[in-house]
Amino acid sequence: MYSDKVMEHFTDPQNVGEIENPDGVGQVGNPTCGDVMRITIKVEDGHIADIKFKTLGCAAAIATSSITTEMAKGKSLEEAMEITRKRVAEELGGLPPQKMHCSNLAAEGLHKAIEDYRAKHPQPAGGQTSD
Ligand code: FES
Repeated sequence: MYSDKVMEHFTDPQNVGEIENPDGVGQVGNPTCGDVMRITIKVEDGHIADIKFKTLGCAAAIATSSITTEMAKGKSLEEAMEITRKRVAEELGGLPPQKMHCSNLAAEGLHKAIEDYRAKHPQPAGGQTSD
């Protein structure tokens, strides 16, 4: 039922854990099944320097979380915001239709972590520094 890539990330998930003193935290629950995931990020120079996840969920949720952290690492915040659940599923070689909802968790968790970072670190208007 799952692609090789899903199985690979499920059996050997990348970036598992929690960053100490993270710059942003995103936690989401899946209303369909009650599963939960939490993403923590470190941001340097507008890029995701480090990212870790903890997921209490099914095989698809763990695989999507793992690949999402790999896709996001090193990306600018803008690029990371463009990682959608559709792109995550494509990257995994597809998900069974009844498992598509599981890929919500990772993309949403990532976006929430970035929003949390932005809320805590407001940019000066215009994005430029004076003098
Ligand atoms: Fe809950 Fe997949 S069944 S995330």
